[in-house]
Amino acid sequence: MAWHRAFLFTSLIGSHAIAFASSNLARSENIAWGPCEVETLPASIQCGNLTVPVDYTEPDSDTTLQLQLLKVPALHEPKQGSILFNFGGPGLEARLTLAGMAETFHALTGGHYDLIAHDPRGTASTLTASCFANQTQRATAVLQTRLSDFPTPADEMALGKQWAGSVLMGDTCSHSQLKDHGRFMSTAFTARDLMQIVDAVSDDGMLRYWGFSYGTVLGSTVAAMFPDRVDKLILDAVMNPHQYYHECDIEIWSDVDKVFTSVFQQCLQSPKQCVLAGRNQTAEELEESIYALLDGVKRIPVVEGQTIIDHSFIKTFIRASLYSPKAYPNLAAALNTLLDRNTTKFMELWGKQMGNGGIFTGDLADDSPFAIPCSEKRTGKHTLDEIMPDLYSLVQTSKLLGEVGNGVAMVCSQWKIDAKERYEGNFEVTTKNPLLIIGNTYDSATPFKSAQNISASFEGSVLLEHGGWGHGTLSHGSSCTSRAIRNYWTNGALPEAGTKCEPDYPPFQPGSLQQVLIDIGFMDKE
Ligand SMILES: *[C@@H]1O[C@H](CO)[C@@H](O)[C@H](O)[C@H]1NC(C)=O
Ligand SMILES: *[C@@H]1O[C@H](CO)[C@@H](O)[C@H](O)[C@H]1NC(C)=O
Ligand SMILES: *[C@@H]1O[C@H](CO)[C@@H](O)[C@H](O)[C@H]1NC(C)=O
Ligand SMILES: *[C@@H]1O[C@H](CO)[C@@H](O)[C@H](O)[C@H]1NC(C)=O
Ligand SMILES: *[C@@H]1O[C@H](CO)[C@@H](O)[C@H](O)[C@H]1NC(C)=O
Repeated sequence: MAWHRAFLFTSLIGSHAIAFASSNLARSENIAWGPCEVETLPASIQCGNLTVPVDYTEPDSDTTLQLQLLKVPALHEPKQGSILFNFGGPGLEARLTLAGMAETFHALTGGHYDLIAHDPRGTASTLTASCFANQTQRATAVLQTRLSDFPTPADEMALGKQWAGSVLMGDTCSHSQLKDHGRFMSTAFTARDLMQIVDAVSDDGMLRYWGFSYGTVLGSTVAAMFPDRVDKLILDAVMNPHQYYHECDIEIWSDVDKVFTSVFQQCLQSPKQCVLAGRNQTAEELEESIYALLDGVKRIPVVEGQTIIDHSFIKTFIRASLYSPKAYPNLAAALNTLLDRNTTKFMELWGKQMGNGGIFTGDLADDSPFAIPCSEKRTGKHTLDEIMPDLYSLVQTSKLLGEVGNGVAMVCSQWKIDAKERYEGNFEVTTKNPLLIIGNTYDSATPFKSAQNISASFEGSVLLEHGGWGHGTLSHGSSCTSRAIRNYWTNGALPEAGTKCEPDYPPFQPGSLQQVLIDIGFMDKE
């Protein structure tokens, strides 16, 4: 999720027609921190709630919302304040993600900060974005609407069915509970929530924030809306926020094919860790044979037990595997079983990657991946004919996964619920303190060019290239990147412009960010 800009002084005042009552700008209540009601969490981790307006555009309304927060307290005195996190999606349950990575984040931020995440509007149990009564209904709808199928634009019949599915989805959601609260989960409102949290927890009223993937749309938005309140802010795995608000998200697919090609090249450089290397083929031959296989299963899918292994099924598996180089040996082994036509073995390896369900298996916990972006994306396109050029651009941008973008493009064009407040400004912004923007060279979900795009517009920001694989910096350990990040949090120092940090180990080779952090003395051994 894991996600961009320059400045015209228009962002906050000029572009918002809405008047905010002074009560909403006042310092909010303090948060009463207490134990989390989750037994598996260490006792040091605390939870708390913060009351915020449901609708920031109605300052006189008493309708409020409880934001649920989780805090990992600083390890060392003196405290340097709090850092807020968002891990993307949109729709990821942020609190548990932070809790699970507490040690890593302390190591990367220096240990003097409290680390705080809240479940954003629309996600988890906070104003849950749900078009359905329960998971059974949602799972049925995903199948019926074909939103987890990936027809190419030339495949008229399949595309038509998927289009009808998106019409049905738009209709269903507009008649669900979302008709009441679907207007209140925009990124702009979540940005205001972040500032309410800042008001509640920080002495200096300044924002410190680290966002990943969609969290970079949130980060760019909050920085553009409140430029004078930015202390330190990292955008890591950048999504192009211009496209997020105004266009079909095509750019996010830009590096997919490059990453896929590199997997075969890296495989041959680590033959002991990569089963595919045993096929005695060149990287180009291996890649071609996988594309041939993907074409083959379009016409002749394979039935294995209760599972239909078709084009979309395999692509979903590849897409999920590309998110982290840790998954590459399993990906290579799984592709090898497909080339051997052993689908029994393929399903075992598929299960290792996908076994826990989640967004990639179509097993969504809620509908926030549609409800949040679609409520604020204004492309002006509402018919299949109007979005056809985008569907073609998607597959031209990525031969491997472009058509995965159909679902959001179609559903958003059919969405009937408009956000009460949408960020209308640009990202030409001078923030009080400069942003650190980081893009991976080989990120299949957010390309380096999006990081370049946003870095060009946030005045004074520095772009760091992390030469690693996977989605965001955390997926591939680099002592150089880790030092740059820690320097920024510790004393606001930015790397030199043009810095590129290489990872400490190649993909397919054993290694982890945690090991890197131990090696450079940022983290203690277990
Ligand atoms: C926060 O709110 C949730 C849900 O409303 C509640 O279950 C929980 O007890 C509250 N936590 C605290 C620390 O007040
Ligand atoms: C899901 O919701 C539908 C519609 O309200 C209901 O008929 C069905 O029994 C529910 N299923 C489960 C497993 O709760
Ligand atoms: C590998 O491929 C090369 C070139 O195609 C061939 O000469 C060689 O015999 C093959 N080696 C094995 C072990 O199959
Ligand atoms: C396919 O894989 C299964 C499970 O690993 C194995 O038991 C079986 O022998 C393999 N089949 C063939 C034809 O190699
Ligand atoms: C950033 O991306 C937007 C949308 O694709 C584009 O219009 C704009 O020109 C880009 N800016 C830069 C500096 O590349």
